[in-house]
Amino acid sequence: MLHINAIKALKNKRKIVMLTAYEYITAFLLEKAKVDIILVGDSLGMVFQGRKETIPVTVEDMIYHTKAVKRGAPDTFVITDMPFMSYQASVADAVRNAGKIIKQSGANAVKIEGGKEIIPQVKAVIGIGVPVMGHIGLQPQSVKKYGGYPVMGKTEDEEKELIENARALEKAGVFAITLEKVKASAAAKITKAVSVPVIGIGSGAKCDGQVLVTHDMLGFFPDFTPKFVKKYDNLGPRALKAIVKFSDDVKSGKFPSKKQSY
Ligand code: KIV
Repeated sequence: MLHINAIKALKNKRKIVMLTAYEYITAFLLEKAKVDIILVGDSLGMVFQGRKETIPVTVEDMIYHTKAVKRGAPDTFVITDMPFMSYQASVADAVRNAGKIIKQSGANAVKIEGGKEIIPQVKAVIGIGVPVMGHIGLQPQSVKKYGGYPVMGKTEDEEKELIENARALEKAGVFAITLEKVKASAAAKITKAVSVPVIGIGSGAKCDGQVLVTHDMLGFFPDFTPKFVKKYDNLGPRALKAIVKFSDDVKSGKFPSKKQSY
């Protein structure tokens, strides 16, 4: 398993591969594929729980899913998202909840959304010995403030602000930063501005690594695919076909056959 120093050392050497998992079998496959990092993202609120946004996800949800992921991928570095309101209100909340996630779930690190405004929390969590990945650019926990999921870093001011946030997080001690949905030219500058790896999602090719939601890149969702997702398979429609076939076979008596009987 990579540890945080090995992850940091990958910057300027080779691209870092991160994918999401919320349960055992996906984690098992990701470990088999030797991805560098598994993220138990609070995107599970949408992908697993069928919600519209990540806001309702709880610390208990994150712990439950991370435990299943660690069982499937015991030898892969696992990062767990700190969900909405587990750290924003106070440094004490951040420390207590990060400690609880690490202690109860077996995660190797936590990811926290936010820039300069959450530096005290980031420093305090690192202070108790928990590695922190930052997350700037589009922050899905702030969806209500944005009124949607806009591209970030489109103006010079936004770009400057993002660079300042990345530098503040680096100074606070994060071992890496997730950069979400940032204009590619701005993302390239942000990646250059810090010495820790910047892992992009929808932020162009110049980041130090890439992360996607595994269910998106496997093509589980036929109805909507964000522009930044490349589908490597079409598992949703393929699974649907198999389910319909099973259903037909049961109804027609083709399943079970002698082969599946004792
Ligand atoms: O929650 C998540 O899956 C994430 C990724 C989209 C980076 O934060």
